[in-house]
Amino acid sequence: MTDLLDEIAALKKREDASILAHYYQDSEIQELADFTGDSLKLARAATQVQSRTIVFCGVHFMAETAKILNREKRVLLPDLQAGCSLADSCPARQLDRYQEMLRANDHRFQTVAYINTTAAVKALSDWIVTSGNAEDVIRRVPPDQEILFVPDRHLGQYLQEVTGRKMILWNGSCMVHEIFSVGDLLALKRTLPQALTIAHPECPANVREHSDFVGGTEAMIRYVAARPDPTDFLVATEANMLWQLQSQVPRHRYHPVPGITCACNKCPHMARNTLEKLRDCLRDGTPEIGWQPEFDQAKEVLQRSLLN
Ligand code: 13P
Ligand code: SF4
Repeated sequence: MTDLLDEIAALKKREDASILAHYYQDSEIQELADFTGDSLKLARAATQVQSRTIVFCGVHFMAETAKILNREKRVLLPDLQAGCSLADSCPARQLDRYQEMLRANDHRFQTVAYINTTAAVKALSDWIVTSGNAEDVIRRVPPDQEILFVPDRHLGQYLQEVTGRKMILWNGSCMVHEIFSVGDLLALKRTLPQALTIAHPECPANVREHSDFVGGTEAMIRYVAARPDPTDFLVATEANMLWQLQSQVPRHRYHPVPGITCACNKCPHMARNTLEKLRDCLRDGTPEIGWQPEFDQAKEVLQRSLLN
């Protein structure tokens, strides 16, 4: 393990690379990263790094976003197969046809896409949101326009509740947050009645209803940090987030909310990235995210939504 870490450090220097890691990566990857963050923080960090190469330890849409915002940089992703069930649920051709159908039926609308989408979907959208800026962006959509929100129906439902804007919702969901067990959450609450529950807005309504706080991963850190007394938190999001909470705010105790099929929920796509693959991609310069024709339009939408 020490050899591997030394190898990565040497290759990082040789290749003039920065490592960005999402909070859902395994702790050993988060530990050695130059930047950790939620989707929004990492997209912004990608525009600020000085190095020639970015190794993105996250899933494909995140590395793609980093490339779109930095055409001149080399962006590597340790495993090209690291996908996302949300991005998969909304193919661009299907969205295009659906938008056509809405227009043919006289709907005046703007399309708001979660960042968990392909560049081709971003290019068909008016706005891109992350869990960190979604409410602000929704408030920027002119009130005389309807909103088509893609692809996460749970996040969309949540945003309807907090902004009061009615939306046309795509029928996608995150395979990790979809399967939290409300029954097991309630059982856990009975064993720790003083605990507070924090949930990601990708969770279904029945989990959000039983939560004290709903917010993205960065907002979760701010919420627990604002609580001075040691507290038990039941955490309804991807299980690697507990490591980040524990290292940033160690005075609390964190308990994973179980999924239907397992004791804690891990994203199989995020888990594809390993230290070995990180070493290999730095050494070989591959897999690399190449520039695609749809990136030009996606860039305009991303910059307007995330950087302004
Ligand atoms: P955030 O990084 O915005 O909290 O979103 C979580 C997620 O599902 C990333 O894939
Ligand atoms: Fe996609 Fe869910 Fe995995 Fe995030 S946790 S990458 S939304 S499948």
